[in-house]
Amino acid sequence: MGVKEIATYFFFRFSVLLWSIKGIGLLFLVFIKSPYNFFKKGNWNDTPKNANDANLGVHGNVTLQRSKLKITYVANGKRGNPLMLCVHGFPECWYSWRFQLKEFSSKYWVVAINLPGYADSDKPSELANYTAERLIDNLAEVVEALGYEKGTIVAHDWGGALVWSFASLYSSMCDKVIIMNAPHSTALRKMFGTLKQYQKSWYMFFFQLPWLPEMLMGCCDLQMFNEFFRGEESGVKNLENMTEADVDVYKHALHSWEARKCALNYYRANIGNVSPQFIERLKKSSISCPLLLIWGTEDFALSLELAALSAKVSNLVSVEYVAGASHWVQQDNPEEVNKYMWKFLN
Ligand SMILES: *[C@@H]1O[C@H](CO)[C@@H](O)[C@H](O)[C@H]1NC(C)=O
Ligand SMILES: *[C@@H]1O[C@H](CO)[C@@H](O)[C@H](O)[C@H]1NC(C)=O
Ligand SMILES: *[C@@H]1O[C@H](CO)[C@@H](O)[C@H](O)[C@H]1NC(C)=O
Repeated sequence: MGVKEIATYFFFRFSVLLWSIKGIGLLFLVFIKSPYNFFKKGNWNDTPKNANDANLGVHGNVTLQRSKLKITYVANGKRGNPLMLCVHGFPECWYSWRFQLKEFSSKYWVVAINLPGYADSDKPSELANYTAERLIDNLAEVVEALGYEKGTIVAHDWGGALVWSFASLYSSMCDKVIIMNAPHSTALRKMFGTLKQYQKSWYMFFFQLPWLPEMLMGCCDLQMFNEFFRGEESGVKNLENMTEADVDVYKHALHSWEARKCALNYYRANIGNVSPQFIERLKKSSISCPLLLIWGTEDFALSLELAALSAKVSNLVSVEYVAGASHWVQQDNPEEVNKYMWKFLN
C-alpha cells in the first residue's frame, strides 16, 4: 500500500464517521417528529395500479446463463427490432423509463430491466454480488439472454455508472450508449476533492453503515421516497409527471428490507473499495461507440462540473444539458430528453 492508498483509506473511514452523524441525526428527527408512525408499514404486497399500465409494455423475465439470476423487465415494441436496453438508478426500477418505453418502440424493442436486487429480480445475498465488475457482467448476460449480440444501452444514475464501464469493457455489445445524470468514475474521483461535491455525496458515506440506511428509507411507511422524488430538495419541476401514484411504484419495488439492503449494497460494494484488478481492466479498455450524456442541470446529488469532466474521457462523448431539470431528468422533462435521444439515434 502506498501513501496515496493509505490516505484514501483514512479519508474514507473518516467520511463515513462524519456523515453517519448526519444520517443518524436525520433518523432521530424523523422518530421524534412522529414516534407513532415511525414503525408503521402499509400493505405493499399488491402491484400499484400505475405499474400495471398495459400501455407501458408487457412484463417478462429472463434467467441469466452464467450467474443463474432471474431478471424481470417490461418491454415495448417488436421483439426482433434493434434492442434498446434501459437500466435504472437508485432507488428506482424499470418504471423510471415510462416515458421512453412507448416513445422508442416504433424503431426498437425497448426493454427496461429491474437490476439485480431490485423489485422482483433475484436478490443475491452476498456483498460480492454487487461489485460493479459483477453487475457489468450481469448486464452482458442480460443482452445475451434476451437473444441479442448488441444493443443501444440507455442508463441513468447507478445504471449510468455501470454503463460507463460497460461501454469500455463490452464495447462490442454497444451500438450506441446514452447515459443520464451519472458521472464517469474518474470524474467523480476528481470531484470528490471539491467541498461542493463532497457535501452533495454525504449519503454515499452514510450508506456504508449497516441497517440504519435501510431503516431510514423504510421508516414511516417509506415516506423518504416522497422527499426523494417529490420533495422540495428533489428539484423536480414537473410534479404532474412525478405523481404520488408514480412514487408508489418505487415504494413497492423497495418495500422489503431485503430489496433495500440489495439496493444499498451497490454503494457498500463499490465506494471506497474498488478492486485494483478492475481498475486495471478498465484502464486497458476504452469507449469505442458514440456516447451521449444527458444532464439535468439541477441535480441535488451531482454537481454540474461532473458532466463536463465526464465528457472529457473520450472524444466519442457528446453532452446535452436539460436546463432546470432535476436528477430524475428523463421523468422530469421527458419531452426534451426524448428529443435529444432521437437526434442522437438518427
Ligand atoms: C417469468 O416468466 C414466466 C413466463 O415466461 C412467468 O410464468 C413467470 O410468472 C414470470 N415471473 C415473474 C416473477 O415475472
Ligand atoms: C455471489 O457471490 C458469491 C461469492 O463471490 C458467488 O459464489 C456467487 O456465484 C455469486 N452469485 C451470483 C448470482 O453472482
Ligand atoms: C409530462 O408527460 C406528458 C406525457 O404524459 C408529456 O406529454 C409532457 O410533455 C411531459 N412534460 C414535460 C415537461 O416533458
